[in-house]
Amino acid sequence: MKDLLRTADLSRDDVELLISTAADFAADPLRASSALANRTVAIYMTKPSTRTRLASETAVAHLGGVPIFIRGDELQLGRGETIADTARIISGYASALIVRTFAQSDVDELGAYSTIPVINALTDDDHPTQLLADWITIRETFGKDIAGRKFVYFGDGNNMSHAWLTMGAIMGAHVVAATPEGKWAPDADVVAHAQEIAKETGATIEISHDAHSAAKNASVIYTDVWMSMGDPENDRAEKMKVLAPFAVNSDLMKLAVDDAVFMHCLPAHRGEEVSADVIDGPRSIVWREAQHRRTTIQALLYHLVRGEVKGR
Ligand code: CP
Ligand code: NVA
Repeated sequence: MKDLLRTADLSRDDVELLISTAADFAADPLRASSALANRTVAIYMTKPSTRTRLASETAVAHLGGVPIFIRGDELQLGRGETIADTARIISGYASALIVRTFAQSDVDELGAYSTIPVINALTDDDHPTQLLADWITIRETFGKDIAGRKFVYFGDGNNMSHAWLTMGAIMGAHVVAATPEGKWAPDADVVAHAQEIAKETGATIEISHDAHSAAKNASVIYTDVWMSMGDPENDRAEKMKVLAPFAVNSDLMKLAVDDAVFMHCLPAHRGEEVSADVIDGPRSIVWREAQHRRTTIQALLYHLVRGEVKGR
């Protein structure tokens, strides 16, 4: 596999390889410090980023390479140069391209016309690198035996909900998306695809519209912001109202199992999707999760550049 364009590209073996290497990079960030020596990695983002940008630049540095960060307004792409031509040019300089933008089709096109690995660092539809960090954190918390455990995402049926369901399917887990019905439910084709993957892996994919029953006996309670980057501002008032029953607070956490943890991809909005006492409380593992953005992106770069990610 050349690129990581979407979560569904990954096989279970790929994820196992990546999180195992990420654990090595957590223990010793510089264990492959010449893997990208004298090489560059382009990081192109048309949306803001704190974690993914820092994790990516740090990962490249730890591999001995030089990150070239390019903001959305800095390429000739914004002045009408095509995606294909941009991909060809970047391929002539960099060893990989990490890209965050709106349309999934733009990332797909960059992948199609690049000769170097292209990594999706978030689109409107997906967030595969986040899920690698999430799953190494889940592995550290619960170990490999996750039979009988339930992993529940609460809130907007957005890019994170898609990635959550898809990665859960790949990992053979019981995953739930607890979202409103209708406009802010996960896309039906993503759910169908996750269910297809689940047939091969033994996973259980569940869509719930009842936060309380979804939280019952959950091992992970996960949430994401209610207003994603690029969401229309005029949806805000309605969204806040419709999503309110899916807010994570200490009452919801009480329904989970005794060793349940709280996760969030961040950035968080305390008092909206999560209460301060939960995210800043003892069950929250969000800071460890955020640190694993670097270890997993480092592992992904290391193996993708070497052609060692097989794909599904
Ligand atoms: N979780 C995540 O992708 O964070 P950033 O938007 O800060 O990169
Ligand atoms: N759903 C959020 C995730 C941020 C990491 C967004 O797209 O803005």
